[in-house]
Amino acid sequence: MGQIKLNKVTKSFGDVAVIPPLDLTIEDGEFTVFVGPSGCGKSTLLRLIAGLEDVSSGHVEIDGVDATDVPPAKRGLAMVFQSYALYPHMSVRKNIAFPMKMAGVTADEQNRRISAAAEALNLTDYLDRRPGQLSGGQRQRVAIGRAIVREPGAFLFDEPLSNLDAALRVGMRLEISELHERLKTTMIYVTHDQVEAMTMADKIVVLRAGLIEQVGSPLELYHTPCNEFVAGFIGSPRMNLIKGAEAAKHNAATIGIRPEHTAVSMTEGLWKGVVGVAEHLGSDTFLHVHGVPGCDPMTVRVDGELPVRHGDTIWMTPQADKLHRFDAEGLRID
Ligand SMILES: Nc1ncnc2c1ncn2[C@@H]1O[C@H](COP(=O)(O)OP(=O)(O)OP(=O)(O)O)[C@@H](O)[C@H]1O
Ligand SMILES: [Mg+2]
Repeated sequence: MGQIKLNKVTKSFGDVAVIPPLDLTIEDGEFTVFVGPSGCGKSTLLRLIAGLEDVSSGHVEIDGVDATDVPPAKRGLAMVFQSYALYPHMSVRKNIAFPMKMAGVTADEQNRRISAAAEALNLTDYLDRRPGQLSGGQRQRVAIGRAIVREPGAFLFDEPLSNLDAALRVGMRLEISELHERLKTTMIYVTHDQVEAMTMADKIVVLRAGLIEQVGSPLELYHTPCNEFVAGFIGSPRMNLIKGAEAAKHNAATIGIRPEHTAVSMTEGLWKGVVGVAEHLGSDTFLHVHGVPGCDPMTVRVDGELPVRHGDTIWMTPQADKLHRFDAEGLRID
């Protein structure tokens, strides 16, 4: 249970077309991540799937059945938002029970599902607390628990972790991935976080201005981005895009090289540059380098520590087999 299909779905707010005709199939059990710049329509798409917004035209199918006119509560989907939206005066147990109460689930069955969800989310010891007595991560787990007990055909997550601090995000990311492993329920997850997208997704959908730029597994997008936009969007730090004479040598309008695919030397190499900012993370060193024609700054990543400082001159050599080529329209040349 949980295949979701969008057939020529469009959405306009007044005169503004936010989603042009869009086709997308999300297979049952798949973990799909939507990424794209702010305002590209990720939340709108999720809300169209959930039924919280009406499509302007086209059809939403859930498990082969046209759900376009089915109200949100009857679609069998559960949505988790960035803001937890818990009831402050209710205990965790009552917050989780709430949607089941609305749906008329028996008390015994409610208790069974609450125990199972609490165990899965490490909330067993907190069931009698109120949301105000929980950390941000625990609150978000309650919100996820409230979605789980509905036993939905699919979970829709809209940036569920973006209010959490870095350490909690990592923990919750792993918990959601484990939850998906265990439940095998379809999940659609919107995020701005590169690491979340790359590590959680079976399939990433890259959106720009309501259009799908590319759909593929994280490593497909990393290794063979179909255009400059996807090349620049997937991967952190971003791929370096180099124009001009250097690109022309490769019969391309633009060449791309990722920061991690460029060797650095103090004495020799293909491109010479001067270090602007050196970021020493211990595990890696990121250098932002000026002076390479057609690409300013160029970012390079070196494993571990490299004792390089602002103002140092370095040489960089891209790995030949890791170069990406794009034509004048920005499309990949293979
Ligand atoms: N109710 C609305 N009325 C008018 N315009 C809207 C409405 N909701 C969204 N929009 C517009 O639709 C576009 C897409 O918005 P949406 O919230 O889907 O973007 P998003 O990709 O989720 O962005 P973000 O990453 O910032 O959350 C934006 O230009 C936004 O201004
Ligand atoms: Mg959004």
